[in-house]
Amino acid sequence: MPARKERAYYRAVRRVATLVNSDTALKEVVLAVVRGTARVMEAGASLVLLDSAGKKLIHTYSRGLPQYYIRKGLLDADKSLAEVVTGQPVAIADVEHDSRIQYPELAAKAGIVSILGVPLVVGDVAVGSLRVYTRRHTEFSNQDINFVFTMANLAAVALRWHALRQEKEKAQQVRSEAEAEAATLRQARKVAFAHPSEEEFARILDFYNIEWVYEPRSFPLRWEGDRVTEMFTPDFYLPGLDLYVELTTLKQSLVTEKNRKLRHLRELYPEIKITLLYKKDFYRLLAKYGCGPLAQTRGRGVSRVLYSSAELNRRVRELAEQISRDYAGRHPVMVGVLRGVFCFMADLIRQMTIPLEVDFMAISYYGGEDDSVVKITKDIDLNVAGRHVVMVEDIVDTGLTLSYVINHLKAKGVASLLVCTLLDKRARRIADVPLDYVGFEVPDEFVVGYGLDYSEEYRNLPFIGILGPDQPDTKEGRSPEGFTSDESQ
Ligand code: IMP
Ligand code: MG
Repeated sequence: MPARKERAYYRAVRRVATLVNSDTALKEVVLAVVRGTARVMEAGASLVLLDSAGKKLIHTYSRGLPQYYIRKGLLDADKSLAEVVTGQPVAIADVEHDSRIQYPELAAKAGIVSILGVPLVVGDVAVGSLRVYTRRHTEFSNQDINFVFTMANLAAVALRWHALRQEKEKAQQVRSEAEAEAATLRQARKVAFAHPSEEEFARILDFYNIEWVYEPRSFPLRWEGDRVTEMFTPDFYLPGLDLYVELTTLKQSLVTEKNRKLRHLRELYPEIKITLLYKKDFYRLLAKYGCGPLAQTRGRGVSRVLYSSAELNRRVRELAEQISRDYAGRHPVMVGVLRGVFCFMADLIRQMTIPLEVDFMAISYYGGEDDSVVKITKDIDLNVAGRHVVMVEDIVDTGLTLSYVINHLKAKGVASLLVCTLLDKRARRIADVPLDYVGFEVPDEFVVGYGLDYSEEYRNLPFIGILGPDQPDTKEGRSPEGFTSDESQ
């Protein structure tokens, strides 16, 4: 091949490659591909794409071809040149004597003598073709075919980028719409709460983007004739979880009456799901976020070892073996939520025997800097679209964190998503997320060690222990208003 032509090929490819590798719009790249091909080949050129059904070829842009030739209508993919079907280039030196030409008379009219068609392949699927039309007899050389192939490949890369960008923008849009909607809902809902604890609970739900309705309905419990003499009105209804929540800040001793009512309610309305959060539960929930009377009672120490280092080791190995078996040949991505999970994750993956990848994410907690809504403070770096993901958690307590994170990951188009947690504090579940691999079911106690912290302490303990007994210390704690006395509701 003459050196001049080789240089021209090289320059054309370099120009288009630079465009593809910048933020240039898809349309500009397609124009540059067709123009560059036409110029260097000293011929007409056009780029056609298969429609979504794979039946018709749609003309996108051409250079150096008469209008009547371009406007001959949509080409049938199976009657046109076979490059889009076979994925192999088609070179026709003599159009006049070749049966593969769909409109020979139009080609003759346009003075076209030879045609080269090269498939546009995205992934391993041909999605269209870049075609070259010369007005002189041309036996296309390997270099010619390679050059057009490279240009077509660059167009395919640009197409792929464009699709990815669009997907990302769409996901972003869906997310911001949901956020805006949640903000509007919060605004519109200036509820007069009967008790400050209810307001605090509503703020926690808002933080996790969980829909709630305050005092949604009253359930009649007792009748005299057709007159209702006793009712029960739960504090909250969470439509997304189909769950009623009753908060009680009463003294434990006065709870008996409420318990009786609740039992009665469950008998009369067995289909409804209702959970009772005692004052103690609520203090613990708040303490986890660094507020409430239990928040800053430090230095209580570990009262009891729950799982020794050896027990953890054994159970983690079992989980690793089970996941390795279940995910054989699927190359999973193990995603951990920082920071509590780091010990468990490190031990778990080192006991796994299949190829895998690891990534981490972090989210903001209620009671942090900006506590209006939960935010991803560190997203995963790997692209998990089409991948099998295993969410790895240290502990699932209310389930609020996990349900948020699961929705976030699912929006990335994963092929599958299962959850592995070392500890399951089932007794306190609010959001009922399915757990696929569970290390241990733990009692409703605050546990520390093996990565788990209390106000950032105790993470380095090699075992998991129960923090000293809860002693509500209202003097030291950051007590939210209304929680210092045992007033009745
Ligand atoms: P959830 O959203 O209530 O399920 O909370 C999950 C997160 O709270 C966990 O990832 C932990 O970081 C933290 N957490 C919950 N319970 C405990 C505990 O007993 N000890 C230490 N951290 C806990
Ligand atoms: Mg965590």
